[in-house]
Amino acid sequence: MIELEVPLGERSYRVLVGAGARHRLLEVLPIGVERVALVTQAGIPVEVDPGVEHRVFTMGEGEQSKDLGTVEDLCRDFARWGLTRGDCVVAVGGGVVTDTAGFAAAAYHRGVPIVHVSTTLLGQVDAAIGGKTGVNLPEGKNLVGAFWQPAAVLCDTDVLATLPPREYRNGLGEMAKYAFLGVDRLADLPLDEAVAACVACKAEVVGSDEREGGRRAILNYGHTLGHALETAGSYDLRHGEAVAIGLIYAAELAHRMGRISGDRVAEHRKVVAGYDLPMALPPDSDPEQLVALFARDKKAVGGLTFVLDGPNGVEPVRVDDRALLLDTFTALT
Ligand code: GLY
Repeated sequence: MIELEVPLGERSYRVLVGAGARHRLLEVLPIGVERVALVTQAGIPVEVDPGVEHRVFTMGEGEQSKDLGTVEDLCRDFARWGLTRGDCVVAVGGGVVTDTAGFAAAAYHRGVPIVHVSTTLLGQVDAAIGGKTGVNLPEGKNLVGAFWQPAAVLCDTDVLATLPPREYRNGLGEMAKYAFLGVDRLADLPLDEAVAACVACKAEVVGSDEREGGRRAILNYGHTLGHALETAGSYDLRHGEAVAIGLIYAAELAHRMGRISGDRVAEHRKVVAGYDLPMALPPDSDPEQLVALFARDKKAVGGLTFVLDGPNGVEPVRVDDRALLLDTFTALT
């Protein structure tokens, strides 16, 4: 088992990564917890035993269940059961469950502890780590939320073997970005070490900028185009697949701006291809529409900010050259 820490002073927490990590739940519950509200989905084939009195609360499947209605349902369930701040919520699932249960835990009684048992690759390398919680509105994804750090995170790599291949690939898209955020030879590592290396990278970034005042934005490498593709919506792309295309776009854009060499672009293509992820724009996509969607990114405050590779590594960069943004799409056909 690999043990890591997200370093946040008195809110620091452990992340256990490895085969069977889910069986360490009792050990990582906050001291004194007597009852656990276990939030999961019907389709998640992962059983956990908190080792204390507990009740299972099942939420719906899919992004459409990640909404304020589900948060209200969970909080009302917690209230009817009499959950208190001395108890704990345990979220067992992927990002939809940990984001939604995390927000419910942040809001209920103005904050009850939560432990995440992350069951997807995407969740283990991203969603479950770092305390971003929230839900969607009809107007857009993740528009309501809170920073609420978990008390611990368990990343059981055994359960990843049960993921459908496309869900696993979804996680690889998110994993690929870490190859450019300082994780060396990521593709050569065994799965548990690769997950742990990504978690360690994210933990360091979150520890330096918990509330995304600046540096934490680098975790969105590849996401500006990725989110635009998801929002444009008709391409049947999973999040990680959209991010993979976004990584290639970001590399090509950085190259056109003179920030990185052609060899570095080739490295991006090698990593993304190595994970068998898409690198080209979906054939029916409209660059004009995608550039318009860039401006709707949550990070677009006072102008377009891209996360780009360069001489100082990956960092947020202002890009206002619309013609350049459009022209860069020609490299993705
Ligand atoms: N998923 C990006 C972050 O946690 O900041």
